[in-house]
Amino acid sequence: MSDTLTTPGAHTRMGSNSGQPMTRRDGIAKVTGTATYAADNRPEGLLHAVYAMSSVARGRVTALDVAAALAHPGVVHVMTPENRPPLAQDPDDKPEGSMALRIEALQNSSVRYVGQPIALVVAETLEAATEGARLLAPVYAVEPARIGFDAGEAFEPESTGFGGQPNIDIGDIAAGRAAGTRHLDQTYETPLQYHNAMEPHAIVAQWQDDHLTIDTPNQAIVMARAAFAAFFDIPAENVLLRSPYLGGGFGSKALPIGPQILAILAARELQRPVKLALRRDQMFGPVQHRGATRQRMQLDMDDTGRLTLLDHHTTATTSSFDTFIEGASAASRNTYASPAIATSHSGVRVDTGTPGAVRAPGEASGSAALECAMDEAAELMGLDPLDFRLRNYAETDPQTGKPFSSKALRECYEAGAKAFGWQNRPLAPRQMRDDQGHLVGWGMGTSLFGAHMNKAQARAVLRADGSAMIATAGADMGQGAWTALAQIAADGLGLDIDKIDFRSGESSLPNGGIAGGSGHTATAGSALFAAGEDVIRQLADLATADPASPLFGAGNAGVVARQGRLHRADDESRSESYNEIMAKAGISELEGKGEGARDPGHAESRAMFSHGAVFAEVRVDPDLGQVRVSRLIGAFAAGRIINPHLARSQLLGGMIWGLGFALMEEGIHDKRTGRPVNGDLAGYHVPVNADAPMVEALMIHEDDAFVNPLGVKGVGELGITGTVGAIANAVWHATGVRPRSFPIHMETLI
Ligand code: MOS
Repeated sequence: MSDTLTTPGAHTRMGSNSGQPMTRRDGIAKVTGTATYAADNRPEGLLHAVYAMSSVARGRVTALDVAAALAHPGVVHVMTPENRPPLAQDPDDKPEGSMALRIEALQNSSVRYVGQPIALVVAETLEAATEGARLLAPVYAVEPARIGFDAGEAFEPESTGFGGQPNIDIGDIAAGRAAGTRHLDQTYETPLQYHNAMEPHAIVAQWQDDHLTIDTPNQAIVMARAAFAAFFDIPAENVLLRSPYLGGGFGSKALPIGPQILAILAARELQRPVKLALRRDQMFGPVQHRGATRQRMQLDMDDTGRLTLLDHHTTATTSSFDTFIEGASAASRNTYASPAIATSHSGVRVDTGTPGAVRAPGEASGSAALECAMDEAAELMGLDPLDFRLRNYAETDPQTGKPFSSKALRECYEAGAKAFGWQNRPLAPRQMRDDQGHLVGWGMGTSLFGAHMNKAQARAVLRADGSAMIATAGADMGQGAWTALAQIAADGLGLDIDKIDFRSGESSLPNGGIAGGSGHTATAGSALFAAGEDVIRQLADLATADPASPLFGAGNAGVVARQGRLHRADDESRSESYNEIMAKAGISELEGKGEGARDPGHAESRAMFSHGAVFAEVRVDPDLGQVRVSRLIGAFAAGRIINPHLARSQLLGGMIWGLGFALMEEGIHDKRTGRPVNGDLAGYHVPVNADAPMVEALMIHEDDAFVNPLGVKGVGELGITGTVGAIANAVWHATGVRPRSFPIHMETLI
């Protein structure tokens, strides 16, 4: 990328830092253990909190042996609904317009799922708090657990996710159905899934008068600060939330959870710092999950294999007390062209914690069903699955009819198919074997995820020595934000990355928006770049107005900022360094501010998505039904790639998550008790290195003039979509058996 001129009088576009495959700037700190995660904080006088978990799924706690817990050496406090100090906000309230979920903070004695906090024990040591919690020996009035689609209470949701429209019909549904000469009607199931970040949720809370400091991993730092403040009736400015490192988030670390609120309450009550770190088994309950889905797909096609109707109905599980519904049908609104598209959702209330955002919420499950159905439809038509998709290629957004801001999906199909060798695929299943006699199959799927943006701010300060500080309260969950955002920030300032002091990860900094919806680089990056531009604009004003500057009078021609110097755009040999400009003007610091948000006009005129195509090869043991994925090749188009190394890593991670979705992940609850029966990482399977195939992510060039001035979309969630279907379709191609329930169990294949 080269530095080019934008508007006269202004300065730079993306410079030489963006586009570089830099390694994570915090990588060494992380792998050598010097990075301080929330639970690593040990302030003076620290107390340890452990919460007792309900062991029943529904009912009421009728007795707790608080005396026994308090009698245990080291225990200093037991908090129960009886003595829990009041909160300024009811944990069951969902403030209007917020992303909040109802949470459990000992508001009463009722139990709504297994693993719910029912008391908090605070002690001088973790061991004493743990033993104190055990000694509470709760007694319950138990009601029968409702687990699974058939046990729960059905309802019609008012929204999906955090406010999506549940039911949207596009075009004339009846006409679409009537026009079809071929009809597919199949139902797919996806299980409840728990996103288990490597770092479980943790908090260290400290009060000083009415000022609260919390060290806790968070994906939406300034938004969360306000949410925490609301519970304690203090101004948001009184809360300092520090989240320099997160060991994964995946959607589970954006919103306050009950245990965090309890730890903060205990710290205020006891006037000492309190640490609470969830155990692995506590990650299966109060920290959200992906709800289970049952998705009925009805596809109608004409004789040429063109869709005339795509009808996608999702039933998803949620908790008994909240409304989050996996918006799986939404995936069918924007992926394939069809004159009629019907999408709808219904809900089932079960006795689990409330589901929430889990990496690619909605799309991950929805794309699984859609891509399997497309494959079955291709088979019905006797068409190659890629050919069938190309016949139904959406040139404009099926939902709105708007042009796409950019869409290089055709190029993704081509590049992916070529790299994979798709043209050699036999049409019929069970045609290929490897030298060990295993059945080999090839399948593919389309990836799609919205190019979302939220809002962010940033601040930059250029110093007289030519270095700069630049800040936004962003979150690095491990995706490499500290690196990619710093690259953008350096380019905005026209500086080498080593000259900038990039600050992030705490709430005292300008709002960095949410590290979620795959929109963090786009949003926080835009704010950072704009803050740099603001500084450069001021520098340019100084220089072009100074008769002694080589840039004097360049106002109309414009200037270019590069490596600490401003150059005349029309004569780059005429330049002046930032230091010289500032020294001449007698200025020691120049401050700039920037905002990142989508241009409303562009948002109105264009549909914005990242796209991709995933190709999978599986090997299935014909005797055991065991499935191994041997190759996974994805080709993705996601606008400008700021850091190819990190973007590839995100895409590979997404594809491997897709592999886990297809073959392993499954949160199983005992139907009689509602207890998670695989509530740990021994029983809840995710792919490990030995499961990871030969996997590659190709990045397809894409320029996008509409998503934001940087042209950045997002890559975090894209890779899961497409992959699940690709693997399931490959399993069919190997075995001739259509998997319609995830994860694919070996016993269903033989
Ligand atoms: Mo997320 S599910 O962290 O966008």
